[in-house]
Amino acid sequence: MSHPATDPARDYARDVIAAALADAQERPIVKSFFDPATFTISHVVRDPSSNAAAIIDSVLDYDAAAGRTSSASADALIDYVKSEGLEIQWLLETHAHADHLSAAPYLQEKLGGQLAIGREIVTVQEVFGKIFNEGTQFRRDGSQFDLLFNDGDRFRIGNLEATVLHVPGHTPACLAYVIGDAIFPGDTMFMPDYGTARCDFPGGDARTLYRSIKRLTSLQDETRVFLCHDYKAPPARTEFVWETTIGAQRTSNIHVRDGVSEDAFVQMRTQRDATLSMPKLILPSVQVNMNGGRMPAPEDNGVSYLKVPLNQL
Ligand SMILES: [Fe+2]
Repeated sequence: MSHPATDPARDYARDVIAAALADAQERPIVKSFFDPATFTISHVVRDPSSNAAAIIDSVLDYDAAAGRTSSASADALIDYVKSEGLEIQWLLETHAHADHLSAAPYLQEKLGGQLAIGREIVTVQEVFGKIFNEGTQFRRDGSQFDLLFNDGDRFRIGNLEATVLHVPGHTPACLAYVIGDAIFPGDTMFMPDYGTARCDFPGGDARTLYRSIKRLTSLQDETRVFLCHDYKAPPARTEFVWETTIGAQRTSNIHVRDGVSEDAFVQMRTQRDATLSMPKLILPSVQVNMNGGRMPAPEDNGVSYLKVPLNQL
């Protein structure tokens, strides 16, 4: 095993999950929303013993051809939260997404809640701040977010216990959230038949991702896993699916099941990444998401503009 034998954050996450598995009160209720335009799943995670809830990885719809945003996907989340009488305590991001814009600022305005992301977002801000030639007014200290999480940080959603695991590899800032008996691993693993996330964005690293995933798969087999994306693995699968278990990942994930070595994974991942084109929305997404989901300040005509750096990615 590549990670240290003692891993306090992972061990604590194991304890949280063990307690949750033993106690139905600690099993969050998860309502998921699938966005067919970007294959993203947003999750509303509810404490079964109160009206407290968190939203993980929201989507602001964006029509790139027209340069037009829409809140239709976010409004569906808001309708659900209001109809269920939930109190949103957290707006959690697993990472700065490269394939969709976050709706966190819009949701915060409508529902409240603290916006949180991983501490290493500052690395993403540094790297992409250069690519977008952001001036000194662009803060690279993560202060666009209410809270920056470190590995092992703990927080509560009502009576639910949650633990933060830093799981870099896809991006330097990726987090997994352990909430009760469930884990939200962001873009580390996908469904077992689809495998894992790419590691070729600036700051990504396949070896690091393998080690992060091994931390996750050392949690209890019964742990429920709620994914951030699903693309339907061709040709067999006809339905989108976003819930699995750690046990299923260990026995059948096509990239990282038990027995696949680190070197074999790195070779497979690197070869596969070399064949992938950039996500359609990477430039608008990272530009906005590294700024806490906020659009660039309007120019003197009142219009906001996004930049396209040429020949940089
Ligand atoms: Fe991602």
